[in-house]
Amino acid sequence: MASITLKTPHSGDYEQPTGLFINNEFVKAVDGKTFEVINPTDETVICSVQEASEKDVDLAVAAARKAFQGEWRLKTTPEQRGKYLVNLADLFEENMDLLAAVESLDNGKAITMAKGDVGACVGCLRYYGGWADKIEGKVVDTSPDAFNYIRKEPIGVCGQIIPWNFPLLMWAWKIGPAVATGNCVVIKTAEQTPLSALVACTLIKKAGFPPGVINVISGFGKIAGAALSSHMDVDKVAFTGSTVVGRQIMKAAAGSNLKRVTLELGGKSPNIVFADADIDNAISWVNFGIYYNHGQCCCAGSRVYVQEGIYDKFIQRFKERAAKNAVGDPFHEDTFQGPQVSQLQFDRIMGYIEEGKKAGATVEVGGNRIGTKGFFIEPTIFSNVTEDMKIVQEEIFGPVCTVSKFKTKEEVIELGNNTTYGLAAAVHTTNLNTAIEVANSLKAGTVWVNSYNSLHWQLPFGGVKESGHGRELGEAALDNYLQTKTVSIRLGDALFG
Ligand code: NAI
Ligand code: MG
Repeated sequence: MASITLKTPHSGDYEQPTGLFINNEFVKAVDGKTFEVINPTDETVICSVQEASEKDVDLAVAAARKAFQGEWRLKTTPEQRGKYLVNLADLFEENMDLLAAVESLDNGKAITMAKGDVGACVGCLRYYGGWADKIEGKVVDTSPDAFNYIRKEPIGVCGQIIPWNFPLLMWAWKIGPAVATGNCVVIKTAEQTPLSALVACTLIKKAGFPPGVINVISGFGKIAGAALSSHMDVDKVAFTGSTVVGRQIMKAAAGSNLKRVTLELGGKSPNIVFADADIDNAISWVNFGIYYNHGQCCCAGSRVYVQEGIYDKFIQRFKERAAKNAVGDPFHEDTFQGPQVSQLQFDRIMGYIEEGKKAGATVEVGGNRIGTKGFFIEPTIFSNVTEDMKIVQEEIFGPVCTVSKFKTKEEVIELGNNTTYGLAAAVHTTNLNTAIEVANSLKAGTVWVNSYNSLHWQLPFGGVKESGHGRELGEAALDNYLQTKTVSIRLGDALFG
């Protein structure tokens, strides 16, 4: 088994697997290539991991196909599938401290948030474990001469490509519904953050999964990701990441075997505060909505709209609140915001901040790098923005938001929908009618009222417009991994003699 002894400030020494996880074993890449994993807090190299090429993707897909056609499909009951997922949830719970520490080390997220992510993985895996033996078909009566039944069948081998902002949570969101419904998977983690998923792989065999059901490979998008999405023996691809790559995935599916595609892409979500809102609550949620996970959230509330009567007071208080967010070492228990994930993301965000300044927007707070080592950026608020500015239209994916003033409900609904995206939105008000009218009018997959980022594994999550299609979480996610088969049995005499 390819592994290395590492240390995190919270775990002491631990064994970090570095191989590709295929057929329940950690193996070396066929070509023996590796790539470096960087610690975003101090920019040092943590270790190197095996890098999957097309050949390794072929091996992982073959392992998944063999499992799907063999033991998993023919001998494993739904109850057993559920049990393995519940076992995996229990093992995540037992190993919470280590999993969270590795997540903070590799991704830079604050340790308390990383523990929250692991807790959400536990909830998600356990929830889908519960679904495994509740996948039901139907009997449809068309005539006394026929018996028709409709089966819900797994799709087969699913390729799953995940991003770096929630490395473990996206792993659990993808595995849960796919495996509960009887599919086998090949997951490609993000090249920025391969480590926590590899530690999680050590739990798969222990949970009871037969070899080949869950395969996890580290590697780059353009090589391993592209190979997976254009593979002729992959029946479905589920992707979370940028809209640009989402388009490439659809093209790859169209150009290969027309595999099914679900996409969870970016966003530029409006966070709307009415003058009648409880202002203390609204400020807390707006702050959490943009700065949680360092702004690296697909559903980040990055466009804040505030009604004119409270605008000045809101900006003043929001500035004070944002400046108080504890930014620093992700391993300090009181840290709220750690470093951005990589040099590239850091440069992209700083580029947007410069762009906003040049376009004439006002920096209310922040706007600078913190320190000289590690990818730390001050929580940043822009005001005096116009709708056509890049910082208002494009996903920044960092601790940067814009605040604009609005007058009426009708105006803010139009502003809220003035984006190519449609992932999430929020409205803060004490008026029930306003809340419902605005929530129903916003083109988004999720709308929060007097809250933000309140995701739960029981509630569907996903986008409209260019934020993608398909839903993750909840019962809705099962549909992404099932296909419908009609079996029609003739009972009477032959119709045509
Ligand atoms: P990305 O979309 O390039 O990466 C996400 C995943 O896709 C990674 O696993 C990557 O290896 C893979 N990938 C990249 N190119 C691929 C290809 N041609 N075929 C198949 N897979 C491919 O995102 P990146 O470059 O890391 O971040 C860029 C921007 O994307 C961010 O600034 C943010 O705006 C957005 N993003 C959105 C996320 C979300 O949760 N919706 C997550 C990550 C990034
Ligand atoms: Mg890293």
